[in-house]
Amino acid sequence: MAKYHLAALLLGALLLAEAALAARQPQDEQQIQLERRKKRKHPYSSPYGLFIQERASKQLPGPGQHFSFGAVKPWEDILAMLDEQEDRKLLLVVRHGQAISNYLGDTLGPDEWYAVEGTCQYDDQKGTIYNIFDADLTGLGQDQAKSLNSILVGGGWYAKMTADRPARFIISPLTRCLHTATLALEGVQSNATNVEEFVRETLGMDTCDARRSVSDPNANAKPSPQGPCSFDKGLASSYPQYKYRVYDARDDADRSFGLLGDSDHLWTKTEREQQKHQVKRAKKFLDILFEHAPEKVVVVVTHSGFTRSLLLAVQREPYRPQNAELVPVIVDKAARVVAAADAHHAAGVAEAEAEEAWLDAVLAGYEDIDLNEDDRPRKASSSSSSSSAGTQRPGSSSSSSNPCMLRRLVGRLAELWRGQ
Ligand SMILES: *[C@@H]1O[C@H](CO)[C@@H](O)[C@H](O)[C@H]1NC(C)=O
Repeated sequence: MAKYHLAALLLGALLLAEAALAARQPQDEQQIQLERRKKRKHPYSSPYGLFIQERASKQLPGPGQHFSFGAVKPWEDILAMLDEQEDRKLLLVVRHGQAISNYLGDTLGPDEWYAVEGTCQYDDQKGTIYNIFDADLTGLGQDQAKSLNSILVGGGWYAKMTADRPARFIISPLTRCLHTATLALEGVQSNATNVEEFVRETLGMDTCDARRSVSDPNANAKPSPQGPCSFDKGLASSYPQYKYRVYDARDDADRSFGLLGDSDHLWTKTEREQQKHQVKRAKKFLDILFEHAPEKVVVVVTHSGFTRSLLLAVQREPYRPQNAELVPVIVDKAARVVAAADAHHAAGVAEAEAEEAWLDAVLAGYEDIDLNEDDRPRKASSSSSSSSAGTQRPGSSSSSSNPCMLRRLVGRLAELWRGQ
């Protein structure tokens, strides 16, 4: 008996000694670096277990507006959580109502639609001409936006979701979003409203994703450098209730909300923005948002492709909302990320490398799915643009191996400014 006691005692002592040793062992440099890298990879995150859309299918669009906008906890609890942390915001992400491009895409079928989506108009040969450029809402799309408004205002859901906290509205400068915002947010108070270029839909090739200039075309001394289609009215006269802040690309470092030029400098005829570039754009938008918006509640009126990139950027599943569907997202900005990144920067590690590592991490597990419904392989558009009023932009590069479209475009915009 005493033998067993002694054995147990010895074993216990051994285990204690081992534990003490492990505790005393300093974390080696490699481990510290690894921890730092982990933190740096995820500057934004979203707490799990609040909304049904977190567990949505990777492939299928959602079924439409969920009860309580998908909240699986009472909104009082979600709002209490919102107040717990300073760098935490509630984003109410709204997809625009059905646009003419959505209607044509659904009714024509993929082959016919793919053949016309780079053109300015579609003639159904039955007397109706549809404007595809900067596509507006259909009648159904307007009704969807009004229906959302009646849930938010008439049904009292906006007050329930926000408890009257001051909110900022961020709206994509494409017509279908400005129109949706006007209808869906009627009677909802905003502390500030911004029309923001970085929440636009996937850039390039499709004319429905090109935007009109802020000023009317005839008020422009020069023709728009790359507008693919003609239009009568600019943004300011189409939607005079919003302010359009136009940035000089040379001030990119100090950029707040706004547009990168009076006319559309981001859309190109030959190149479609890739998913990973759009996720970077979403991160950049979040950087601007957390720097410049003091409000805890932010309503973002945007598009399905950008919604998915925004969700990926905060490490949520890339849920694809239906037209005029509202998806709530709580976003946390990691406080120590900046310091870690700076330390790393000082240590000589390139920032771009850090961003690539972050991008790999947020896209991990989603490489095999069609993240953006428009991310399919495309033929070079040349013959199909019979009704295009513009011409191919001179000096456009269609190299598919360029590092990041956004950076390249911003660079080109800077060149443009210098040239003037
Ligand atoms: C409302 O907007 C103003 C102006 O942008 C800002 O100074 C203020 O902090 C905002 N209020 C809140 C509560 O965020």
